[in-house]
Amino acid sequence: MSGAAAEPQVAIVRTARRLRGELTLPGDKSISHRALMLAALAEGESRIEGAGDGADVRSTAGIVAALGAAVERVGGDERTVAYRVTSPGADGLRQPTGVLDCGNSGTSLRLFAGLLAGLPMTATLDGDDSLRGRPVARIIEPLRSMGAELHARRDDSLPPLTVVGHTPLRAVDVEPRAPSAQVKSAVLLAGLRADGETSIREAVATRDHTERMLRARGIGVRTERGDGPGVTVTVEGGGRVQAVKERVPGDVSAAAFWLVGAAIHPDAELTLRGVGVNPTRRAVIDLLRAMGAGIDERPLRPGAEPDEADGGVGEPVADLTVRSSRLRAIDLGPADVAAAIDEIPILCLAAAAAEGTTRIRGAGELRHKESDRIAGIAAGLSALGVRVEVDGDDLTIHGGARLAGASTDSLEDHRLAMTFAIAGLLATGDTLVGRPASASVSYPGFFAELERVRA
Ligand code: S3P
Repeated sequence: MSGAAAEPQVAIVRTARRLRGELTLPGDKSISHRALMLAALAEGESRIEGAGDGADVRSTAGIVAALGAAVERVGGDERTVAYRVTSPGADGLRQPTGVLDCGNSGTSLRLFAGLLAGLPMTATLDGDDSLRGRPVARIIEPLRSMGAELHARRDDSLPPLTVVGHTPLRAVDVEPRAPSAQVKSAVLLAGLRADGETSIREAVATRDHTERMLRARGIGVRTERGDGPGVTVTVEGGGRVQAVKERVPGDVSAAAFWLVGAAIHPDAELTLRGVGVNPTRRAVIDLLRAMGAGIDERPLRPGAEPDEADGGVGEPVADLTVRSSRLRAIDLGPADVAAAIDEIPILCLAAAAAEGTTRIRGAGELRHKESDRIAGIAAGLSALGVRVEVDGDDLTIHGGARLAGASTDSLEDHRLAMTFAIAGLLATGDTLVGRPASASVSYPGFFAELERVRA
């Protein structure tokens, strides 16, 4: 994030005596990106209620507009926005006149690469310094095998990324090296414009929002499960994406900060309204429960099948209540890391407060996020008095720490900013969070909520 000059460079978080209250979360970031992109591909008017209004989703909205769809903000509140998107459809989108600015958003960059691969145009995707350090070879390889031409800086490894689309693309069967919903989604979006069925084999199943949302828009998508944690997802080419009206659930990755904050605080009870609990996203809830966290879940809509109530998206939603708990250490392996990829930083804080030693193995993907999150977490938690050991891609966190307020740095990474701010609620003395404005990448208003719940 570039951060405007007027933004504070440090947030000071004081200890909270108690935490109480109800929160509504920003709209799910992953679903909001996809809803906007699919609205660009669908001819006619799409409506998206409750979309996240962080900087990342705004980047995607800006790119959809640059491709020639009319994007209007027609309602919303502090954390969510309602969009009306009116598009000429995939075949009517226009060649953008400038570089497409993804800002800090890896999801925008990877998914738009797939979307653009099948369109008859040339476009360049770029972003901020953090995004320019994130790998794109994982996207280039499968999309090239489908017949698109892609080029990137440093031997095709880093953004900016130029995509020369090709219509139709070749239907392929791909097996990515690392589990990534972004790579899967890029291939599925490209597969819409392919001359047959495109399959992607995932060794570990990742979040399935793209699959659900394509089905809800009339596209044939099959998911076949093997014996282990893997799946094969197949999309039919040549279908027309329908325009729909849809409501985005609250972001479970944002809820995770409050789940951990309340569980590790000695006097806390928080209720989180309308949280998306999709089975491929809810790992943080189940892992915290396995650690001993008291979390009640009241389903609002089952969402196993698309239904009218959620605009056909088929995303289960629940209210969650979490209270002070005694946590125990846990061992996490690569499949847990993939399932809770965005929640590992805040789970590390839970581990620091838990009894016993937590080991997290195979967390290498965390080095390729908005910052090197393994380094960032180790530095921040160590500053707060936690014993953390890093051995390659593995982390060991010694629990039972008495957190002591200290100076931490978000590295301009939203998830680190919020993790250290939550730590500040129970650390003794003041905790300083450097470059806190990064929180607004996914959670505008986060620091105001932090003040409100310490009532
Ligand atoms: C996302 C997938 C994840 C996640 C990111 C959002 C998505 O990335 O870290 O914040 O919306 O598909 P990877 O699938 O590349 O690990």
